[in-house]
Amino acid sequence: MQTRNRVLVLGSLNMDLVVGSERVPLSGETIFGRSFATFLGGKGANQAVAAARLGVPVGMVGAVGGDAFGAQLADTMAQEGIDTSALQRTEGVSTGIALVMVEPGGRNTMIVVPGANGEVAPDAALASLDQLAPIRLLVAQFEIRMDTTWQVIHAAQARGIPVLLNAAPARAEAPAYFRGLDYLVVNEQEAACLAEQSVDNPALAAQAAHKLAGWGVLVVIVTLGVQGAVVVANGISQHIPAVPVEAVDSTAAGDAYIGGLAWALTEGQPLERAMTVAGCCGALAVTRLGAQPSLPTRTMLEAFMRERHI
Ligand code: RIB
Repeated sequence: MQTRNRVLVLGSLNMDLVVGSERVPLSGETIFGRSFATFLGGKGANQAVAAARLGVPVGMVGAVGGDAFGAQLADTMAQEGIDTSALQRTEGVSTGIALVMVEPGGRNTMIVVPGANGEVAPDAALASLDQLAPIRLLVAQFEIRMDTTWQVIHAAQARGIPVLLNAAPARAEAPAYFRGLDYLVVNEQEAACLAEQSVDNPALAAQAAHKLAGWGVLVVIVTLGVQGAVVVANGISQHIPAVPVEAVDSTAAGDAYIGGLAWALTEGQPLERAMTVAGCCGALAVTRLGAQPSLPTRTMLEAFMRERHI
């Protein structure tokens, strides 16, 4: 019996073009940056790599263009041990890119040009549910075609596959689509966008999470950066504090969190512990520049947790 592909990630792959700068320019303004580098990224790819580095078998569904960025992204995914048999290469379309500006303190601002990520059609993605079975958890975000994302989520639910949706980047979607989701993970902006309220502290995050849970979601997690995360499950909210670290670049911290959560949940860890592990993955990611280079391995995660007696 096939036992691989316990986590299936449906999502984006991007090349991140990262500029370090004192600040983000104003509209119409030109400023000098401090540094430039390219990093492998894309929320889907980052989450797949994050989970794979912790040791869970992962399959990736998505698309890259027929250019050099696409080849580099696809090759690296395979080198990470990820099953890329459902990864499309779309000739004549550019690979997705993200223009990322990182300010001192690690805060980032981003423009994403989807390119090939916009080419992931429902039929091919739906076929991957059978092609890459058995699947223990489907992980999805909001960075590829929305019709594909929702169709695959609903098809997975119909097959009894648990779904973890990271509703990122922020986007308002109909509450009815979320019904029956097992895990919904959002940051403060995404929670604010969905719940239509401000979310900048744990109390407001709990309020928003209760509202989203009311849409029929079993577990809602709102991540709040240095303020930790809030979870609502079974009508009860809980605040999990953050692990303090020195921030260099927050890019992919959320993806490290999702990868860590996916790994811990598929390992059978209880929700609160899985969130603590995920928080440590996110904390580790902000200490390093770039998306995929910042995602911790299992050894790094265990050492970090040991040092902090977590
Ligand atoms: O979550 C971080 C990611 O968002 C970046 O790697 C970028 O590519 C965008 O998808």
